[in-house]
Amino acid sequence: MALELEGRVALITGAAQGMGRAVAERMAAAGARLALNDRNPQTLHAAATALEGKGAGVEALPGDVSAAGDVARMVERALERFGAIHVLVNNAGVLRPTAVIDIEEEEWDRVVNVNLKGTYLCSRAVLPAMRREGWGRIVNFSSTAGKNVSTLGGAHYTAAKAGVLGFTRHLAKEEAPYGITVNAVCPGLIDTEMVRDTIDAERMRSYARSFPISRLGKPGEVAELVAFLASDRAAYITGASLDINGGDLMI
Ligand SMILES: NC(=O)c1ccc[n+]([C@@H]2O[C@H](COP(=O)([O-])OP(=O)(O)OC[C@H]3O[C@@H](n4cnc5c(N)ncnc54)[C@H](O)[C@@H]3O)[C@@H](O)[C@H]2O)c1
Repeated sequence: MALELEGRVALITGAAQGMGRAVAERMAAAGARLALNDRNPQTLHAAATALEGKGAGVEALPGDVSAAGDVARMVERALERFGAIHVLVNNAGVLRPTAVIDIEEEEWDRVVNVNLKGTYLCSRAVLPAMRREGWGRIVNFSSTAGKNVSTLGGAHYTAAKAGVLGFTRHLAKEEAPYGITVNAVCPGLIDTEMVRDTIDAERMRSYARSFPISRLGKPGEVAELVAFLASDRAAYITGASLDINGGDLMI
């Protein structure tokens, strides 16, 4: 039996670690060829080499998703190598915990540009290729922050992740006639470097105790949802935001 993403090419941003890397591993196991982006070339090449070792076709594309020139170059390179892009996972994100009273303009721009503008730039860059195929899947990383208030991040992070939800709905409506679905995932607290770099182990345990399912989520659990949204099985889901948070946000 053919693997679910056999013949598909997936471009995953922020794929060197955390959930982006877990999505890359899950999609490679489902037969996809991978165009992997990250702004950190060292960790990106380590991740790409590990996946190639498991037999996946991988192209490493270092670059900043908030820089239009980097995005254009990485999409061009992915198309040169694979000839098509069927799946885009807008996973790259940055979080800062600063309170509004202390947020410098430069930090505001950085957080909003990576999380929100990067999602727009990468989507815009892949749409012509997806329209040519008459088939596409875009999965955007929002957060419980996008629906409520960020647990660890500041208002810039909350605002950017809420913006990702609006962008997702709007783009879904525009691209539905071309066979392209656009959805968002809203993870709760997931055990990744982003969280470990922001809070200590005791605070992680304390948050875990406060959730109905009293632990943090695992990157692989989110990757499972993203892989489903990227598959043919999710053909009638578009413009949606799917919660994956251990019951932290029951709305
Ligand atoms: N971990 C959580 O609890 C959580 C919860 C909800 C949403 N999210 C979101 O999920 C996504 C993945 O988070 P994670 O926890 O795996 O993060 P992480 O920090 O562990 O990994 C993020 C990766 O993105 C890369 N990156 C950052 N800025 C970039 C840029 N401008 N261009 C290209 N790559 C860039 C980093 O180098 C890193 O490899 C992010 O969008 C994050 O906001 C995380």
